[in-house]
Amino acid sequence: MIKKCLFPAAGYGTRFLPATKATPKEMLPILTKPLIQYGVEEAVEAGIHTMAIITGRGKRAIEDHFDISYELEHQIKGESKENLLTEIRSLISSCTFSYTRQIEMKGLGHAILTGETLIGDEPFAVLLADDLCTHEEDSVLKQMIDVYEKYQCSIIAIEEVAMEDTNKYGVIAGELVDNTTNTYRVTDMVEKPDSKDAPTNMAIIGRYILTPDIFDILRETKPGKGGEIQITDALLEQAKQGNVIAYKFKGTRFDCGSVEGFVEATNYFYQGVH
Ligand code: UTP
Repeated sequence: MIKKCLFPAAGYGTRFLPATKATPKEMLPILTKPLIQYGVEEAVEAGIHTMAIITGRGKRAIEDHFDISYELEHQIKGESKENLLTEIRSLISSCTFSYTRQIEMKGLGHAILTGETLIGDEPFAVLLADDLCTHEEDSVLKQMIDVYEKYQCSIIAIEEVAMEDTNKYGVIAGELVDNTTNTYRVTDMVEKPDSKDAPTNMAIIGRYILTPDIFDILRETKPGKGGEIQITDALLEQAKQGNVIAYKFKGTRFDCGSVEGFVEATNYFYQGVH
């Protein structure tokens, strides 16, 4: 069983400056809901109720969002507007949230290692809230947990991207193990390769199920591309043992860390409600 979901949310969000100067990127809203709330809802849909969030300086708004706001709630009590808080209230009451800070932003791999204290020695999910995923039936994380139950090793979500975009992603090479479930055993991984060096166009998106040995590997992982400790480099160590499965998920992903993806997601959700 996967019981905990880790949300690395300490990054600077430089692609969204100046909006992210004093506001966490994860609090940017698609319609009326911040990105991180969509992420927590996806985890709950996958049966996870323990949320572990990696924050950093300037990210306190995330903690306040998953808490009661007495003054505000008192102010609108009995008004129709109170209904706007129903969803977030029930989310708060059905989950526990714990937080730890990443003191220095040394990369996604380092952020995940910072989460060890909240996760402990068990397999766990990782969700990057700026990758907003929609789905028809099961949520992407739920689909991945089903794959985990079959293979009992680390699972990464992938999608095919345009070859000229490989330099924005971790890219994998793998052997197809099951074409009905779209799963590959990963044989190689490269962080943000130029298209000429990319082994394929299969890109890793912001959803992972990781086995806890990843923490020991991350402790030994040297800074890689961009001087950051890359989760891709640590996963490659697991992949060398045959312990990483890539899964081409069903659904749509919006890269809400980019202005273009954010606008696309906004339009998509707006059309859904009107
Ligand atoms: P990104 O590569 O999107 O970086 O991080 P970023 O800083 O958030 O955004 P840009 O590129 O400057 O616009 C991927 C995920 O890893 C987290 C981010 O919060 C995001 O969810 N992260 C990244 C950390 O938590 N800590 C880090 O040191 C780096």
